Amino acid sequence: MINIAIDGPSGAGKSTLAGFVAKELSLVHVDTGALYRAVGFYIVKNKVEPSNAEKVVKLLESLNVDVEYDSNRKQHVFVNGEEVNEQLRTNDVSMAASAVSAIPEVRSFLLDLQRNIAEKENIIMDGRDVGTVILPNANIKFFLFASPEKRADRRFKEYAAKGIDISYDKVLEDIIQRDFNDSNRKISPLKQAEDAIPVDNSEMTEDETKKFILNIIKEKLS
Ligand code: DC
Repeated sequence: MINIAIDGPSGAGKSTLAGFVAKELSLVHVDTGALYRAVGFYIVKNKVEPSNAEKVVKLLESLNVDVEYDSNRKQHVFVNGEEVNEQLRTNDVSMAASAVSAIPEVRSFLLDLQRNIAEKENIIMDGRDVGTVILPNANIKFFLFASPEKRADRRFKEYAAKGIDISYDKVLEDIIQRDFNDSNRKISPLKQAEDAIPVDNSEMTEDETKKFILNIIKEKLS
């Protein structure tokens, strides 16, 4: 099985990049952030405070998260049987996902799901702890990052294109907060694996990043 890991902070372009590589090399793209977002979505829906770990853990008892891949290898996330892809990208769900991802029970709740997919399919998986915890034996690992300002700028433009009304300053503030949450949690923090290839794309275009990564993968897999 081919297992490629891409980790890095939010807004670095992991998902776009992994989707591109998946298409080029006929791999399944596993977006693990969407799984944490599914938990975040369920917490928000049930009006539970994401910082209330006890209540979040209790709510996991009534939650079932599933993924399916269609013929275009697009990932569909299901919460208790209902597809929720379209509902995972709001700012509230992002913040809730970041907060609940620090809870050990939430991480173990999603661990087997992620490993099971990697055992069955040739995949490229993006997240925060794929290279360090989920797939320590991945064939190739990347750590993709860019400055907080560049990432906020990209995300702000994405929101604007979707008609989501939010200021640049708020997007930047949230990115800095999520970086802090993701890097400082006790369990599985965002961290570059020792054997990961670091890629700083602050000054690279999307196309340049795509070509750069694809060349490395082709070389390593040949
Ligand atoms: O990649 P994303 O922005 O969709 O991820 C949403 C949140 O989920 C992010 O703030 C951190 C968390 N996450 C995580 O803790 N571990 C992963 N492997 C993927 C995401």
